[in-house]
Amino acid sequence: MSTTAVSELISSSDHRFTYGADYNPEQWSESVWLDDVRLMREARVTLVAINIFGWAQLEPLPGQFDFSRLDRVLDLLHENGIGVNLGTGTSSPPPWLAALHPETLPMMADGTRRHVGGRQAYCSSSPIFLERALGLVEQVAARYGAHPAVKLWHISNELGCHNAHCHCAVSASAFRVWLEARYGTLDALNEAWGTAFWSQKYAAWEHIGTPMLTVSTGNPAQAVDFMRFSSDQLLAQYRAEVAVIRRHSAVPATTNFMVAAHIRNLDYWSWAGEMDVIANDHYLDHRLADPTTELSFAADVTRGLSGGAPWMLMEQATSAVNWQPLNIAKGPGEMIRNSLTHVARGADGISFFQWRASVQGSERFHSAMLPHAGTDTAVWRDVVSLGETLERLAEVTGSRVVAEVALVFGWQAWWITDLDSHPSVEVAYLDQVHRAYAALRANGVTVDVVEPGADLSGYRLVVVPALHSMSDAVADGLTGFVAGGGHAVVTFFSGITDETDRVRTGGYPGALRELLGISTEEFFPLHMGESVELDDGSRATIWTEKLRTTTAETLASYLDGPLPGTPAITRNSLGDGTAWYLATSLDAASLAQTLGTAATAAGVATDPASAAAGLEIVLRRGERGSYLFAINHGLADAGLTASGTELIEGREVDGTLTVPAGGVRVVRLDSVPAEGGSEGDPTDGARNDREEVRELL
Ligand code: GAL
Repeated sequence: MSTTAVSELISSSDHRFTYGADYNPEQWSESVWLDDVRLMREARVTLVAINIFGWAQLEPLPGQFDFSRLDRVLDLLHENGIGVNLGTGTSSPPPWLAALHPETLPMMADGTRRHVGGRQAYCSSSPIFLERALGLVEQVAARYGAHPAVKLWHISNELGCHNAHCHCAVSASAFRVWLEARYGTLDALNEAWGTAFWSQKYAAWEHIGTPMLTVSTGNPAQAVDFMRFSSDQLLAQYRAEVAVIRRHSAVPATTNFMVAAHIRNLDYWSWAGEMDVIANDHYLDHRLADPTTELSFAADVTRGLSGGAPWMLMEQATSAVNWQPLNIAKGPGEMIRNSLTHVARGADGISFFQWRASVQGSERFHSAMLPHAGTDTAVWRDVVSLGETLERLAEVTGSRVVAEVALVFGWQAWWITDLDSHPSVEVAYLDQVHRAYAALRANGVTVDVVEPGADLSGYRLVVVPALHSMSDAVADGLTGFVAGGGHAVVTFFSGITDETDRVRTGGYPGALRELLGISTEEFFPLHMGESVELDDGSRATIWTEKLRTTTAETLASYLDGPLPGTPAITRNSLGDGTAWYLATSLDAASLAQTLGTAATAAGVATDPASAAAGLEIVLRRGERGSYLFAINHGLADAGLTASGTELIEGREVDGTLTVPAGGVRVVRLDSVPAEGGSEGDPTDGARNDREEVRELL
């Protein structure tokens, strides 16, 4: 959870957005650096991340250090009023480490090693790697810990991006230590892993290995524990680096998370509490059907990790990346829309990878703030324009996003739901989460993303997509929320197993039968491409189940498919609240309609018309005011009701705000008071805020 205000990183008296990039001056001659800082000032850059991949420059041979160039870079940036987010430099060891110690190279599940020539070629359990890495951190922290340019410490880089799972003997041994700490006894491990199955019972700790490739399917509980262990090992590296820094510097520390559709290696819910500032890297993923909605989702996840506090976007691309099969350039205004969507959803800092486009190495064709073609480019003009815009929006910093709906999401849930040997390979956790999120967004609903087991008390509606494994505590929390008057929507394949992934018997979903008022005797997944029709006009794919209601009412049943006449959508009253169950994967329009109905029943403000017009509307509220962000993704200008001061153009808005096609407007609202200025029950500020927003919209 963030303990440091992002807007105070640069100056505690002058709140402003951090704005900048990864800066890799080691790739350039010193004459270029002068051009760099001049242009950084032109773009209003306030913070650059340096020394991210600096190890081989700083320690060209073991124990031989050369800080001369980095000294000059720090001084130059400082002289130009540019803050430094200083990398510890440990993200990629120099080639000499593997030459001296080949056992530090990571091993894949098939027993083959990966080699130098790329990046992150190390085993995170290797004591040799750690000793060398901490030796470097010691040098860097001792030398620069008191340097006035240093505003933030950047630990390693995207920990676990490429090397999260190592299967070498050292990792296997560390895995056993982790397992002993978790289970205490072999009996407890055998029980939790269900090793009575297929003669897998372990008779000694040293017989246990990592889940390497097997000739058949493997043990699911072992696989998930290995994911947990691997996440913890990398977190241990983070902690160890911070501990060294703390001997020399009190400057806040963080690392850049990867809340993304294509990487799921780390359980960031367990990491968040260790960060002084929550930072995320986000790239539009054109392999997805709807990259823009995923951007909003990732931003909301990041805000969730930050406990609602403002966070930093540490990396994004000004235009194309280089690592997707097709690297799509951004259209006019798209980079600014992307950036301000992150801001709308709680970012108080915007940075890019990277400052100046590389001319060598595998990222030559990745966009940058300063493109190969120079400053007479659309990218550069947008970079300068965004710098100006962020200055105009400075008063927004510190404010928080207002949401009355929670979406439950977790990395461990992702690992477990997507294990093999399940009823249908078409049930992919993130798809189901994205679908629910998109359906809420289509209703104009702002969502907080929360972890399983989070306190739900501030919300009117909670949506739980495909949460396959559920502890008693998580199920009880959800049930208590509903019994106390909340509304919940749970989707299929939720609540089936406990936290060790053991199936709960007596009718699915064992953890939620009472809450949902249903019992399912068998799953009937659909064929690929097959769809079914429901008697409320909806269509659905992927999944059906032989479900009977106990206390729930049936809202829709199948007309065809394997189970005609069987309930597909149900609603149950429990205590003062309502729990909906979606037993199938509704198509996008039907899901949006169903979640819209549930949201309205829960008293949540919806605005499907604005969403359909392409408007994304989010409210941030803080001490200096309440700020309405309106992002127009559509091809036509769009209007909405608002009165106040539009901050990007500096104009008064009197009743109607027009957001140009592809544009963004931010209004400090007259009608919604700043935080603390609301009338009514002072203990219920958020609720009052939502009421006012509902009236406003
Ligand atoms: C990130 C990484 C950067 C750069 C960028 C390219 O994963 O932290 O160093 O490689 O991707 O998109």
